[in-house]
Amino acid sequence: MFKYRRLLQGAIAFLTAVLVIACNSPSPPTDAGNNNGNLAEIPLGVAVAQTSNVALFGQEQILGTQIAETYFNENGGINGKPLKIILQDVAADEQGAINAFNTLINQDKVVGIVGPTLSQQAFAADPIADRAQVPVLGPSNTAEGIPQIGTFIGRVSAPVSVVAPNAVAQALKLNPELQRVAVFFAQNDAFSKSETETFQAAVQDFGLELVTVQRFQTTDTDFQAQVTAALNVQPDLVIISGLAADAGNLVKQLRELGYNGIIVGGNGLNTSNIFPVCQAKCDGVLVAQAYSAELDNEINRAFRDAYFQQNQKEPPQFSAQAFTAIQVFVEALSSLDEKTPLETLALPDLRRQLRDEIFAGTYVTPLGEISFTEEGEIVQKEFFVAQIEMDESGQQGRFAFIEGN
Ligand code: ALA
Repeated sequence: MFKYRRLLQGAIAFLTAVLVIACNSPSPPTDAGNNNGNLAEIPLGVAVAQTSNVALFGQEQILGTQIAETYFNENGGINGKPLKIILQDVAADEQGAINAFNTLINQDKVVGIVGPTLSQQAFAADPIADRAQVPVLGPSNTAEGIPQIGTFIGRVSAPVSVVAPNAVAQALKLNPELQRVAVFFAQNDAFSKSETETFQAAVQDFGLELVTVQRFQTTDTDFQAQVTAALNVQPDLVIISGLAADAGNLVKQLRELGYNGIIVGGNGLNTSNIFPVCQAKCDGVLVAQAYSAELDNEINRAFRDAYFQQNQKEPPQFSAQAFTAIQVFVEALSSLDEKTPLETLALPDLRRQLRDEIFAGTYVTPLGEISFTEEGEIVQKEFFVAQIEMDESGQQGRFAFIEGN
């Protein structure tokens, strides 16, 4: 009898211990869709252009995200859990972005997405993420209307309306006599169309005369017809909205065909990857900036040092914005994890709660202090204007900052 009682007591003690362990362990994600097991690494998608002409921007974005991944993991990741960037190439068009988003959402099971590179791609791919309730931060989409695509869509790239007019104001400071403006834009690109509207409104606001509007395609390489038509009406300011290679070639051909006045370039000319395209003829182009390497805060110093060590030059805006997008995800994930450990959340809940956390936060970033409107639009304080300075060989150049506000 005594023997049986001891056996029974032993069995009860064992069962109690099993129960206690079970109750103290975090419950596994209830959603089988989370294939990351115990979330040993937090998978974050980066969907930018690794191939095609759009990689002229994408290369700079990848540098920014890689620096961010290393930096934040060296600084403890997400409360000790490492961040894992998963890259998917969006290439040049809408289908590329749609494919990248679908893979990241359904196959890679990411918690959120940084991307895509172009606004043109965002209008096609962002609705997919929004329907899947996956938070997206655009690192470079600057067309009007991006955050309005859906509840889960935001951006860290300030829109054309707050960035572009700064360059026109600067052109007028350099030459207050400016009067006659020729505007060029890529008519097959959503960002270029949006930016030219802003530029054309700024021309009116500054009391200048719009003497011609010339259209081209982002795939064009020969701009002789448009340049000749524009030069016939004798502009003293030219404003260009296009992507890197097309806009770079246009700058080159404007100079070759004899235009000597000021050129303002939009966000598509905001990369040193245009230097091999327009070479010495890039010199003097004014480009508004949403980032300055000079911005003095701890995170920008860390970012700038890491970028400089790798590339022996100051970081460009596209890299800084990509770094910032990763930073926002890291900080929002960390603060969500403090409220509800991430491993206890099913992936759909994690993505939904992460979205709310992102847009509620304030972040001190390489772009300065930023936050978001309810719609997911970035609220940023400082903008700048730089002028391209090419060296005598025409091979090397830099963006020299001349204005901040
Ligand atoms: N700023 C450019 C866009 O929005 C790259 O497409």
